[in-house]
Amino acid sequence: MPPDYDTDPERWKSWQPQRDVHEIVASELSGPTLDIGCGDGRLASLLSHDVSWVGLDSSRTQLAANPRRPVVLADMRQLPFRDGVFAEVTHLWCLYHNADPLDAIREAWRVLRPGGRYSACTAARTNDPELMWDGYPPTPFDAEEAEAIVSSVFARAEQQSWDDKYFPLQTREEVRAYCRHHSIPPERAEAAEVPLWLTKRGVLVRATKT
Ligand SMILES: C[S@@+](CC[C@H](N)C(=O)[O-])C[C@H]1O[C@@H](n2cnc3c(N)ncnc32)[C@H](O)[C@@H]1O
Repeated sequence: MPPDYDTDPERWKSWQPQRDVHEIVASELSGPTLDIGCGDGRLASLLSHDVSWVGLDSSRTQLAANPRRPVVLADMRQLPFRDGVFAEVTHLWCLYHNADPLDAIREAWRVLRPGGRYSACTAARTNDPELMWDGYPPTPFDAEEAEAIVSSVFARAEQQSWDDKYFPLQTREEVRAYCRHHSIPPERAEAAEVPLWLTKRGVLVRATKT
């Protein structure tokens, strides 16, 4: 999935869930935190200002939309930080943009201090079956392999899965916006029942640097 946050920023802005994994992760962070692929600041918006936070992203558009500071324009595969400086590192909804997510996960491990905590999340290929009845195309970091990929860098990793209907898309316009946001063919929005309760499937993988 090549990033399109600078070339087509309207896709990302077209829809936002009412709640997401950010709420869970934010409640667990005590900082200093490196929020990799921080985007327009959803995780940061949920963090207390007592938690020391640095956002990093490769998109100028996303960083400009992110109200919290400091932020760093950089590539997650080559982090501009010394070894062992962060207590927490997050990779929320971003590792699937890398052809090989291991490069980025190794960098996250490097900048974590011993005992530091790591979180990454992603969706399953079987997510949203009501719209994607043949499944989503595979990415380099899908829920089906995420824990195994993280475990190849971190000695201890475990996953928390979700597989349920959490919210409805209330109107046809919202289904269209959801399809645009998720790069789902637009005709699927016209064929869907409204309101549409989607089955959300994915994982949050947590790990600790020993
Ligand atoms: C789906 S958005 C998620 C944003 C945010 N983490 C969230 O959950 O709302 C993915 C983000 O990863 C960023 N990204 C993609 N490839 C990157 C890379 N190689 N280095 C740094 N950031 C990257 C994109 O610019 C985008 O902001």
